[in-house]
Formats: sequence, structure tokens, C-alpha cells
Amino acid sequence: MQRYQLITKLDEICKRPKEGFRLDETEREKIVDVLRKLDIGMFGLDVEEMHELIVDPKQEPDEITTIVRVSLSESKCVSVIAFGVRPGHAIPLHNHAYMYGFMKHVFGKGTIKSYSFAEQNDSYITTNNRNFSVGEQVKVEEQEVVQVDETTVNEVFRFDPVIGNFHTIVADKNEPVGFIDVLLPPYDNIFRKQVYWKVIEESDLNCKSPVYLRAIELPADYTKYVIDLDTALNRVKYMVKTGKFKRKMKADN
Ligand SMILES: [Fe+2]
Repeated sequence: MQRYQLITKLDEICKRPKEGFRLDETEREKIVDVLRKLDIGMFGLDVEEMHELIVDPKQEPDEITTIVRVSLSESKCVSVIAFGVRPGHAIPLHNHAYMYGFMKHVFGKGTIKSYSFAEQNDSYITTNNRNFSVGEQVKVEEQEVVQVDETTVNEVFRFDPVIGNFHTIVADKNEPVGFIDVLLPPYDNIFRKQVYWKVIEESDLNCKSPVYLRAIELPADYTKYVIDLDTALNRVKYMVKTGKFKRKMKADN
């Protein structure tokens, strides 16, 4: 099956996203199934090239960013992106108001640390799963930390508007980590903005639950290199031409 057919399938599942948009379990399983069949090679970018784009020390603009984000397919309903976190860096804790997310591990090593809303009844979610402002607090529950490494390649990790909606993705000290990410519906900067969080250090730190998070400004040390697929492909060509990109990994896609 071609990538366009897979993307069309995702669009069909999503239909018309809006606030309060819900996906049932069957629809979520269908998305996991689509994502398992979707690989980065279908977009003309192999795993090794994606790896190289992330660790490339001479990104444009001329600074080393925390992550590289390559847009693979974006519609009103669903966004499909590839992203990678540089070694020793992290995507700071953020949430996905009203959104469902599916992350397929592509390569590398790292951890996903997630939190869920502590109060999970429907009316609470309707009033609280929204865009938060800096300074606001939410009560959350910690989820088990997920380790990703060579044994989890191609596994799909999920979150929904309630469970695991807050997360941070941390790359290993020496290795980048890469994912293909499907978000339904995507961020739109109006109803669904990216909000960052910090765990509030309390005096009762030893008391494990509940945990409170506070919305914060975008962390100053978090930077993104956001490009479209054509730019990514041209960048790879340029790296090959200038001898900066020497194939080392075994491309398995
Ligand atoms: Fe996220």
C-alpha cells in the first residue's frame, strides 16, 4: 500500500475534528494498524538519513537545536510528522489538549515520561482539557516511564485527551531518538496550543501522588528545527554532496 492510501485512511478515520472530538477503541486500533504499516522510507527519507538530519551539527539556522521536526503530511484532521531529539536533549513536558497521539518509535534510545489527568470524569475533562495559561495548575497522575531502545523499534505508543496527555521525551545521553508521530486533531494554535509544564516541587516531595504541574512559558533552551519534507530531502542531498553525510548505520527501511 502506498503512503497516500495510508494517509487517506487516517483522514477517513478522523473525518471532522472539533472540540470534544472522540475516537473509540476500534478507530484507535485502526490508526495503530495504519501507523505500523507506515514507514519513513515511504516518504523518500530512510532511517539513516533521518538519523543524520537530527545529529547534523550544522543545521540551518546555524545553531544546534533540541529537535528536528519534519512534516510528512498535514491536514485539518491529522498531522503526520517525523521528529527526532538530539542526544542528551529533551522535548520539555507539554500537553495535547483534546488530542489523540500515536508515536511510532523509529530508531534510537530514550524515555517517554507521561502524566494523566488525575480526575478523569467526563465533566472534569470537558471543562479542564483545554488551553491552559501560564501559571495555571493541574492535578495529574504519573504514568510508568517507557524506555525505548532497539527492542521497541516499530512499537506504537499512544495517548489520548486524558491518559498520558502530558509528556516529555528524553533522548539518551549518547544517542538521538526518532519517532513518527500522528496527532488527531493536530495543533491549530487556536483551540489546541502547545503548553509547557513543570512539575511543582513541593515540601511533601516524598508523597508520590498526586502530582501538580504548573503551566510555564516556552523553556528558553528548547529549540526546534522545523522543516517540510522537500527541505529535509534537499538537506540530505546537500550533506551527501558535501561529504558531511557518510553512511554508517544499516538502513532497515
Ligand atoms: Fe507531544
